[in-house]
Amino acid sequence: MNVTQNFSLKSLNTFGIDVKAHEFAIFTSPEELIELLSRSKKEKVMILGGGSNVLFTKDFPGIVLKNEITGIDTVKEDEHHVYVKAGAGENWHKFVMYCIERNLAGVENLSLIPGNVGASPMQNIGAYGVEIRDVFHDLEALHLKTKKIVTFSNTDCEFGYRESVFKNKYKDEYVILNVTYRLNKHPEYHTSYGAVADELERINKGISIQTISQAVINIRSSKLPDPSKIGNAGSFFKNPTLSADKFERLKRAHPGVPAYPQEDGKIKIAAGWLIEQCGWKGYRKGDAGCHERQALVLVNYSNAAGKEIYDLSEEIKKSVHKKFEVSLEREVNIV
Ligand code: FAD
Ligand code: EPU
Repeated sequence: MNVTQNFSLKSLNTFGIDVKAHEFAIFTSPEELIELLSRSKKEKVMILGGGSNVLFTKDFPGIVLKNEITGIDTVKEDEHHVYVKAGAGENWHKFVMYCIERNLAGVENLSLIPGNVGASPMQNIGAYGVEIRDVFHDLEALHLKTKKIVTFSNTDCEFGYRESVFKNKYKDEYVILNVTYRLNKHPEYHTSYGAVADELERINKGISIQTISQAVINIRSSKLPDPSKIGNAGSFFKNPTLSADKFERLKRAHPGVPAYPQEDGKIKIAAGWLIEQCGWKGYRKGDAGCHERQALVLVNYSNAAGKEIYDLSEEIKKSVHKKFEVSLEREVNIV
């Protein structure tokens, strides 16, 4: 376990931002993590997974620890479910493929989301009508101060739309070590998303977890920029949720706004549409920009500084507020 000083994080974040960590090390087990924590004199600790949901705006003044705890195992089975435990450092899509190959249903709609297993509960990752909370069973995490390993159940995580306790009240307090998911032996298909239904029809091989996964992969590949080609962290902002009253007012002024009624009576609206309406889609200033096919995705064309992307996100927020009186909230973690 080497601790490297002034380590460049450029290749470890999908925005491709060139910042340095004062100290950097990789751990592959809880024991290594504990040893690194006791060796480092740094107060600030950041845990890094695949780096696909962070925007570094400056050098990190503490120690960055990359989680590479691996292993995927079936730990329990009952009539309807199979429980699969995965190390936090496993690649998320590899885990999805593990499930699909074994006919375990529940994560097929979440195919091709970048990043690692350990970050999946952080913001309750979601796509095409499914969220991680639908299959999450529990996780083990190390408490940074006490060095105790704590188990969190689904309820303990307080999952919400792109939210969990780890992003809020326990921010920077725990290191997620592994996650156990409860997969279904008998699939329940989620194909109500228009794009998924259309792509399934085009593929024309029936409905199964395999075809749903393929449909999602096809849609994502055609819509979202590939971080290996152009730096980005997926949706930069969350889709805002409005009260029914506020939504009615907005809709009267802007009838085209895409809207998704929620179970609690509130209405989620498409941030990408709001941003596009403000004229940002395809905008570029230096190497920072707003993607030409998906306005919700901010991009680094090559050598943008994190601060430039952040400043662009501020300008976008302000203009959306001015035009629609709607506040955008960042989804990406700003470091
Ligand atoms: P990182 O970026 O490394 O970390 C994210 C945050 O979690 C940081 O604050 C980090 O400190 C913390 N963290 C990471 N691992 C741990 C750990 N083990 N313990 C404690 N804290 C930890 N997200 C979606 O929800 N749905 C999508 O459809 C989606 N599409 C995307 C498409 C693209 C092209 C890209 C680039 C991103 C997309 N994302 C999406 C965002 C991203 O893929 C997810 O948020 C993913 O879960 C991040 O995983 P990561 O390992 O890269 O996390
Ligand atoms: N739209 C526009 N202009 C744009 C982009 C989108 O008008 O430039 C409109 C679309 O026409 C559509 C609506 O906005 O009517 C929704 O767009 P899309 O289906 O592309 O999804 P999204 O709301 O932009 C969300 C998630 C994605 C997830 C997809 C699929 C958030 C913040 N984003 O995007 O997650 O993959 O739905 O479920 O909830 C991520 O979190 O990083 C992410 C990529």
